[in-house]
Amino acid sequence: MQIKSAVFHTSARDLTAAPEWDRREFAMIGRSNVGKSSLVNMLTNSGGLAKVSASPGKTRLLNFFIINDSWSLVDLPGYGYAKVARSQKAEFMEAVADYLSQRPNLRQVFVLIDSRLPPQAIDLDFLQWLDQHKIAFSLVFTKADKQSLAKTARSVETFRTALPSHLHDVACAITSSKTGSGRGEVLRLISQTLDNNSL
Ligand code: GTP
Ligand code: MG
Repeated sequence: MQIKSAVFHTSARDLTAAPEWDRREFAMIGRSNVGKSSLVNMLTNSGGLAKVSASPGKTRLLNFFIINDSWSLVDLPGYGYAKVARSQKAEFMEAVADYLSQRPNLRQVFVLIDSRLPPQAIDLDFLQWLDQHKIAFSLVFTKADKQSLAKTARSVETFRTALPSHLHDVACAITSSKTGSGRGEVLRLISQTLDNNSL
């Protein structure tokens, strides 16, 4: 799939402020600092469409982007960042949970996992929550440029085996927002869903 245009549409603080439209949506979620906003920029070939930061907790709102004047990418705040005030954290995590579990437009969630780390309880718990809510997801292993391909491949396998057995075949992509590797694979997962699934 070619990305011909990518524009920022709006930031919403919760589901009630999400756009009223019939666009199909693909959301990026994962631990704070895992590279969600960087992946939006990599997929759309844009430097600064989504705001990126070296310090975690950068994205605090649900950010909607319109791609090819058709579907939407949604950059979500990350989970697991301790330094956000507890009241504020509860607020935006509730906004994310409401969005993921109640948004009719949502077609697929990309759960980003840091390819350098062993399976983290917080990611496994989150995947279990998605599974319980019957929310379709794929995994994206990020920051693959930071280590050898062999190490990344081992991380992916270790992560798969840490999942409940009915999830072992979940679609996985390996990406680097620095080199652009894995871009085609993520776009292929999106176009497959768009082809199979009209709104
Ligand atoms: P929050 O919005 O805070 O939850 O973070 P995020 O998941 O959106 O992460 P973000 O895209 O802001 O990236 C966090 C840091 O990781 C930034 O310093 C990025 O430059 C860096 N980063 C993201 N993806 C990659 C990658 O594939 N390779 C490398 N080397 N660095 C990356
Ligand atoms: Mg972000």
